[in-house]
Amino acid sequence: MSAGIDFLGFPAGATALVTGAASGIGLATAKLLLAQGLTVVGVDINEAGLAALDLGPAFVGLPLDTGDPEAVEQALAELRASVGPIGYLVNNAGPPSATPLTIEEGLARTAGSVQRVTAAWASGGLPAGASVVNVASVAGAVSGGPPPSVLAGSNSRPSNGWYAAGKAAVGGVTRHQAVSAAGGYRANAVAPGVIDTPRIGDLTSGAYGLLMIERSPLGRLGQPEEVARAIVFLLSPAASFINGVTLVVDGGGTLVY
Ligand SMILES: NC(=O)c1ccc[n+]([C@@H]2O[C@H](COP(=O)([O-])OP(=O)(O)OC[C@H]3O[C@@H](n4cnc5c(N)ncnc54)[C@H](O)[C@@H]3O)[C@@H](O)[C@H]2O)c1
Repeated sequence: MSAGIDFLGFPAGATALVTGAASGIGLATAKLLLAQGLTVVGVDINEAGLAALDLGPAFVGLPLDTGDPEAVEQALAELRASVGPIGYLVNNAGPPSATPLTIEEGLARTAGSVQRVTAAWASGGLPAGASVVNVASVAGAVSGGPPPSVLAGSNSRPSNGWYAAGKAAVGGVTRHQAVSAAGGYRANAVAPGVIDTPRIGDLTSGAYGLLMIERSPLGRLGQPEEVARAIVFLLSPAASFINGVTLVVDGGGTLVY
Protein backbone atom coordinates (compact mmCIF):
# COMPACT_ATOMS: atom_id res chain seq x y z
CA MET A 1 0.00 0.00 0.00
CA SER A 2 1.28 3.51 -0.82
CA ALA A 3 2.41 5.62 2.11
CA GLY A 4 0.35 8.48 0.62
CA ILE A 5 1.06 12.18 0.57
CA ASP A 6 1.99 13.98 3.79
CA PHE A 7 -0.82 16.48 3.34
CA LEU A 8 -0.54 18.18 6.73
CA GLY A 9 3.21 18.82 6.45
CA PHE A 10 4.26 19.10 10.10
CA PRO A 11 8.07 19.42 10.23
CA ALA A 12 10.07 16.47 11.58
CA GLY A 13 10.74 16.74 15.30
CA ALA A 14 7.85 19.17 15.93
CA THR A 15 6.27 19.47 19.37
CA ALA A 16 2.70 20.46 20.28
CA LEU A 17 1.17 21.44 23.61
CA VAL A 18 -2.49 20.47 24.13
CA THR A 19 -4.43 21.67 27.18
CA GLY A 20 -7.22 19.53 28.62
CA ALA A 21 -5.51 16.47 27.12
CA ALA A 22 -6.78 13.84 29.56
CA SER A 23 -10.31 13.61 28.11
CA GLY A 24 -12.64 14.29 25.21
CA ILE A 25 -11.59 16.66 22.43
CA GLY A 26 -8.14 17.32 23.93
CA LEU A 27 -7.36 13.61 24.21
CA ALA A 28 -8.51 12.95 20.64
CA THR A 29 -6.33 15.86 19.45
CA ALA A 30 -3.29 14.60 21.36
CA LYS A 31 -3.72 11.14 19.83
CA LEU A 32 -4.04 12.52 16.31
CA LEU A 33 -0.95 14.72 16.69
CA LEU A 34 1.01 11.72 18.04
CA ALA A 35 -0.13 9.76 14.99
CA GLN A 36 1.32 12.55 12.80
CA GLY A 37 4.71 11.98 14.45
CA LEU A 38 4.73 15.00 16.79
CA THR A 39 5.87 14.99 20.37
CA VAL A 40 2.87 16.06 22.48
CA VAL A 41 2.89 17.75 25.86
CA GLY A 42 -0.54 17.06 27.33
CA VAL A 43 -1.59 19.47 30.07
CA ASP A 44 -4.49 18.72 32.40
CA ILE A 45 -5.71 19.70 35.84
CA ASN A 46 -6.73 16.04 36.34
CA GLU A 47 -3.43 14.49 37.42
CA ALA A 48 -4.88 10.99 37.87
CA GLY A 49 -6.54 11.15 34.44
CA LEU A 50 -3.21 12.07 32.83
CA ALA A 51 -1.36 9.33 34.72
CA ALA A 52 -3.87 6.73 33.51
CA LEU A 53 -3.12 7.50 29.83
CA ASP A 54 -0.85 5.13 27.93
CA LEU A 55 0.06 7.11 24.82
CA GLY A 56 3.68 6.06 24.38
CA PRO A 57 7.06 7.77 24.78
CA ALA A 58 6.24 10.77 22.56
CA PHE A 59 3.59 11.91 25.06
CA VAL A 60 4.58 14.01 28.06
CA GLY A 61 1.83 14.47 30.66
CA LEU A 62 1.96 17.72 32.62
CA PRO A 63 -0.47 18.32 35.52
CA LEU A 64 -1.36 22.02 35.46
CA ASP A 65 -4.32 24.36 36.01
CA THR A 66 -4.47 26.65 32.97
CA GLY A 67 -6.40 29.10 35.14
CA ASP A 68 -3.36 29.70 37.36
CA PRO A 69 -1.25 32.42 35.66
CA GLU A 70 1.94 31.97 37.74
CA ALA A 71 1.90 28.18 37.36
CA VAL A 72 1.35 28.52 33.58
CA GLU A 73 4.31 30.91 33.15
CA GLN A 74 6.60 28.73 35.23
CA ALA A 75 5.53 25.51 33.45
CA LEU A 76 6.07 26.99 29.98
CA ALA A 77 9.52 28.28 30.93
CA GLU A 78 10.48 24.86 32.31
CA LEU A 79 9.10 23.10 29.24
CA ARG A 80 11.20 25.20 26.87
CA ALA A 81 14.26 23.98 28.78
CA SER A 82 13.18 20.33 28.94
CA VAL A 83 11.46 19.62 25.59
CA GLY A 84 12.81 22.51 23.48
CA PRO A 85 10.79 24.79 21.17
CA ILE A 86 7.05 24.17 21.06
CA GLY A 87 5.73 25.21 17.66
CA TYR A 88 2.09 24.28 18.12
CA LEU A 89 -0.45 25.07 20.83
CA VAL A 90 -4.04 23.88 21.31
CA ASN A 91 -5.95 25.88 23.95
CA ASN A 92 -8.70 23.37 24.64
CA ALA A 93 -9.11 23.28 28.46
CA GLY A 94 -12.01 25.13 30.02
CA PRO A 95 -14.73 24.64 32.64
CA PRO A 96 -18.05 22.93 31.79
CA SER A 97 -20.83 25.37 30.88
CA ALA A 98 -22.90 24.41 33.94
CA THR A 99 -20.15 25.46 36.39
CA PRO A 100 -21.56 28.24 38.60
CA LEU A 101 -19.12 31.09 37.89
CA THR A 102 -19.53 34.84 37.91
CA ILE A 103 -19.17 36.55 34.55
CA GLU A 104 -15.71 37.78 35.59
CA GLU A 105 -14.53 34.30 36.64
CA GLY A 106 -16.03 32.76 33.51
CA LEU A 107 -14.30 35.21 31.17
CA ALA A 108 -11.02 34.72 33.04
CA ARG A 109 -11.26 30.92 32.68
CA THR A 110 -12.16 30.94 28.97
CA ALA A 111 -10.77 33.83 26.90
CA GLY A 112 -8.48 34.89 29.76
CA SER A 113 -6.81 31.48 30.01
CA VAL A 114 -6.49 31.27 26.24
CA GLN A 115 -4.74 34.63 26.12
CA ARG A 116 -2.46 33.94 29.09
CA VAL A 117 -1.36 30.46 27.96
CA THR A 118 -0.72 31.79 24.45
CA ALA A 119 1.34 34.71 25.79
CA ALA A 120 3.42 32.37 27.99
CA TRP A 121 3.92 30.02 25.01
CA ALA A 122 5.00 32.83 22.68
CA SER A 123 7.16 34.72 25.18
CA GLY A 124 10.26 32.56 24.75
CA GLY A 125 10.28 32.87 20.96
CA LEU A 126 8.70 30.43 18.52
CA PRO A 127 9.95 28.29 15.64
CA ALA A 128 8.99 29.33 12.07
CA GLY A 129 5.48 28.24 11.10
CA ALA A 130 4.16 28.25 14.67
CA SER A 131 0.41 28.25 15.18
CA VAL A 132 -2.30 28.09 17.84
CA VAL A 133 -5.85 26.73 17.72
CA ASN A 134 -8.29 27.85 20.42
CA VAL A 135 -11.42 25.87 21.28
CA ALA A 136 -14.51 28.10 21.34
CA SER A 137 -18.10 26.78 21.05
CA VAL A 138 -21.24 27.36 19.03
CA ALA A 139 -22.56 28.64 22.38
CA GLY A 140 -20.52 31.77 21.63
CA ALA A 141 -22.76 32.49 18.64
CA VAL A 142 -26.10 31.19 19.86
CA SER A 143 -26.54 30.37 23.58
CA GLY A 144 -25.46 27.77 26.11
CA GLY A 145 -28.60 25.68 26.60
CA PRO A 146 -32.39 25.59 26.72
CA PRO A 147 -34.68 28.26 28.20
CA PRO A 148 -36.11 27.57 31.69
CA SER A 149 -39.41 26.40 30.18
CA VAL A 150 -37.62 23.50 28.47
CA LEU A 151 -35.02 22.84 31.16
CA ALA A 152 -37.13 20.80 33.60
CA GLY A 153 -36.90 17.09 32.83
CA SER A 154 -34.62 17.68 29.85
CA ASN A 155 -31.40 16.24 31.38
CA SER A 156 -29.76 19.50 30.35
CA ARG A 157 -27.90 21.79 32.74
CA PRO A 158 -28.78 25.45 33.10
CA SER A 159 -27.04 27.64 30.55
CA ASN A 160 -24.70 30.27 31.92
CA GLY A 161 -24.07 33.73 30.56
CA TRP A 162 -20.36 33.46 31.26
CA TYR A 163 -20.08 30.43 28.95
CA ALA A 164 -21.74 32.10 25.95
CA ALA A 165 -19.80 35.32 26.59
CA GLY A 166 -16.51 33.52 27.24
CA LYS A 167 -16.71 31.36 24.14
CA ALA A 168 -17.66 34.37 21.99
CA ALA A 169 -14.63 36.11 23.48
CA VAL A 170 -12.39 33.18 22.51
CA GLY A 171 -13.26 34.03 18.89
CA GLY A 172 -12.38 37.68 19.55
CA VAL A 173 -9.10 36.82 21.25
CA THR A 174 -8.26 34.53 18.33
CA ARG A 175 -8.82 37.33 15.79
CA HIS A 176 -6.72 39.66 17.92
CA GLN A 177 -3.91 37.10 18.13
CA ALA A 178 -4.05 36.54 14.37
CA VAL A 179 -3.36 40.21 13.77
CA SER A 180 -1.12 41.12 16.69
CA ALA A 181 1.19 38.13 16.31
CA ALA A 182 2.14 39.62 12.91
CA GLY A 183 4.11 36.74 11.44
CA GLY A 184 5.13 35.16 14.75
CA TYR A 185 2.34 32.61 14.60
CA ARG A 186 -1.06 31.96 13.04
CA ALA A 187 -4.14 31.82 15.28
CA ASN A 188 -7.44 30.11 14.52
CA ALA A 189 -10.35 28.65 16.49
CA VAL A 190 -12.88 25.86 16.25
CA ALA A 191 -16.46 26.16 17.51
CA PRO A 192 -17.81 22.67 18.23
CA GLY A 193 -21.50 21.88 18.49
CA VAL A 194 -22.62 19.15 20.91
CA ILE A 195 -19.81 16.61 21.03
CA ASP A 196 -20.03 13.18 22.64
CA THR A 197 -17.51 13.59 25.48
CA PRO A 198 -17.80 12.84 29.23
CA ARG A 199 -18.74 16.47 29.72
CA ILE A 200 -22.23 16.18 28.21
CA GLY A 201 -23.24 13.42 30.67
CA ASP A 202 -26.71 12.02 30.02
CA LEU A 203 -27.90 15.04 28.01
CA THR A 204 -29.08 12.93 25.09
CA SER A 205 -31.29 10.65 27.14
CA GLY A 206 -33.60 13.59 27.89
CA ALA A 207 -36.05 15.54 25.77
CA TYR A 208 -33.81 18.51 24.95
CA GLY A 209 -30.84 16.38 23.93
CA LEU A 210 -33.05 14.21 21.74
CA LEU A 211 -34.53 17.31 20.13
CA MET A 212 -31.05 18.62 19.33
CA ILE A 213 -30.16 15.36 17.61
CA GLU A 214 -33.48 15.27 15.75
CA ARG A 215 -33.03 18.84 14.49
CA SER A 216 -29.44 18.34 13.42
CA PRO A 217 -29.11 17.82 9.64
CA LEU A 218 -26.79 14.85 10.26
CA GLY A 219 -29.07 13.43 12.96
CA ARG A 220 -26.36 12.75 15.52
CA LEU A 221 -23.86 14.23 17.94
CA GLY A 222 -20.29 14.94 16.90
CA GLN A 223 -17.41 12.72 18.00
CA PRO A 224 -14.28 14.19 19.61
CA GLU A 225 -12.17 12.82 16.73
CA GLU A 226 -14.21 14.90 14.27
CA VAL A 227 -13.27 18.09 16.14
CA ALA A 228 -9.67 16.90 16.53
CA ARG A 229 -9.31 16.59 12.74
CA ALA A 230 -10.42 20.20 12.29
CA ILE A 231 -8.03 21.36 15.03
CA VAL A 232 -5.06 19.46 13.60
CA PHE A 233 -5.73 20.77 10.08
CA LEU A 234 -5.88 24.41 11.24
CA LEU A 235 -2.77 23.88 13.36
CA SER A 236 -0.77 22.35 10.52
CA PRO A 237 1.27 23.87 7.69
CA ALA A 238 -1.54 22.72 5.35
CA ALA A 239 -3.53 25.69 6.69
CA SER A 240 -0.64 28.10 6.11
CA PHE A 241 -2.80 30.95 4.70
CA ILE A 242 -5.69 30.57 7.16
CA ASN A 243 -5.45 33.05 10.01
CA GLY A 244 -8.08 34.40 12.41
CA VAL A 245 -11.02 32.17 11.47
CA THR A 246 -13.42 30.33 13.76
CA LEU A 247 -14.36 27.07 12.08
CA VAL A 248 -17.77 25.75 13.16
CA VAL A 249 -17.74 21.96 13.65
CA ASP A 250 -21.37 21.15 14.44
CA GLY A 251 -22.72 19.04 11.59
CA GLY A 252 -24.82 22.03 10.56
CA GLY A 253 -26.78 21.83 13.83
CA THR A 254 -26.87 25.56 14.44
CA LEU A 255 -28.17 26.27 10.91
CA VAL A 256 -31.58 24.95 11.91
CA TYR A 257 -33.95 27.15 13.90
N1 LIG B 1 -18.36 18.54 24.45
C1 LIG B 1 -19.02 19.53 23.88
O1 LIG B 1 -20.21 19.38 23.50
C2 LIG B 1 -18.34 20.86 23.60
C3 LIG B 1 -18.98 21.76 22.75
C4 LIG B 1 -18.39 22.98 22.48
C5 LIG B 1 -17.17 23.31 23.05
N2 LIG B 1 -16.57 22.41 23.88
C6 LIG B 1 -15.27 22.81 24.46
O2 LIG B 1 -14.29 21.83 24.18
C7 LIG B 1 -13.31 21.84 25.22
C8 LIG B 1 -13.08 20.43 25.70
O3 LIG B 1 -14.30 19.91 26.19
P1 LIG B 1 -14.62 18.34 26.25
O4 LIG B 1 -16.05 18.17 25.87
O5 LIG B 1 -13.57 17.58 25.54
O6 LIG B 1 -14.56 18.13 27.84
P2 LIG B 1 -13.97 16.97 28.77
O7 LIG B 1 -14.56 17.26 30.10
O8 LIG B 1 -14.12 15.62 28.15
O9 LIG B 1 -12.39 17.30 28.81
C9 LIG B 1 -11.91 18.51 29.30
C10 LIG B 1 -10.55 18.28 29.92
O10 LIG B 1 -10.03 19.56 30.30
C11 LIG B 1 -9.49 19.45 31.62
N3 LIG B 1 -9.52 20.76 32.26
C12 LIG B 1 -10.61 21.47 32.64
N4 LIG B 1 -10.23 22.63 33.21
C13 LIG B 1 -8.88 22.66 33.17
C14 LIG B 1 -7.90 23.59 33.62
N5 LIG B 1 -8.26 24.74 34.23
N6 LIG B 1 -6.58 23.31 33.44
C15 LIG B 1 -6.22 22.15 32.81
N7 LIG B 1 -7.10 21.23 32.39
C16 LIG B 1 -8.42 21.48 32.56
C17 LIG B 1 -10.39 18.43 32.30
O11 LIG B 1 -9.75 17.87 33.45
C18 LIG B 1 -10.63 17.43 31.19
O12 LIG B 1 -9.65 16.41 31.16
C19 LIG B 1 -13.82 22.82 26.29
O13 LIG B 1 -13.18 24.07 26.12
C20 LIG B 1 -15.30 22.92 25.98
O14 LIG B 1 -15.86 24.15 26.40
C21 LIG B 1 -17.11 21.19 24.17
